[in-house]
Amino acid sequence: MVEKIKATNITWHHETVTRQDREAGNGHGGAVLWFTGLSASGKSTIAQALQAVLFEHGCQTYVLDGDNIRHGLNKDLGFSPEDREENIRRIGEVAALFMDAGMIVSTAFISPYRADRDKARSLCGDGFIEIYVHCPVEVCEERDPKGLYKKARSGDIPEFTGISAPYEAPENAELTLNAAEHDVEQCVGLVIAYLQERGILKNA
Ligand code: ADX
Repeated sequence: MVEKIKATNITWHHETVTRQDREAGNGHGGAVLWFTGLSASGKSTIAQALQAVLFEHGCQTYVLDGDNIRHGLNKDLGFSPEDREENIRRIGEVAALFMDAGMIVSTAFISPYRADRDKARSLCGDGFIEIYVHCPVEVCEERDPKGLYKKARSGDIPEFTGISAPYEAPENAELTLNAAEHDVEQCVGLVIAYLQERGILKNA
């Protein structure tokens, strides 16, 4: 999509409180945990379980979830490649703001296109952590908690990721969670260990 820049005569205002100030106050780093994977792979469940653990440890944390954000900020978007690109562009921007506010923000979006995820990565910089929630499509389809794979198979939902629309798996994710073999608690443990290893979490 060609970038549309409409506003002119705008000025960048500098912060009186920086990300570093906020991180020092919080006692942990800011980060974007970018969960990507098929529908029903476990992205939202893992992100929610993770934020409960982080919150318990006093971290400033939030989850941006595809289904929820599509009820509000992104309710004007569908599932064409262009709309998915715009969906991810906006979330990349929002996630970068949360990170700048010193928070550990998890995003749970299919985000099927590598190029769109890479744009979010370059926007968020050093704090961007791509987490591939790997789960074979057969397992996702078997789970089918929302009955959407069934609808996609019968042709009621067009362009359904993994069935009639592509999913480009990450090639260089910081972390891959094997969600068909590991339970939610194990996946959360792996993310926490990674955050500690990176020095983002100091005492969780
Ligand atoms: S993304 O591809 O643009 O990143 P997003 O994560 O926001 O997708 O939304 C995916 C959720 O929307 C799925 O979990 C599912 O509940 C619902 N959904 C509805 N239609 C589709 C579709 N055609 N493809 C994938 N998910 C869909």
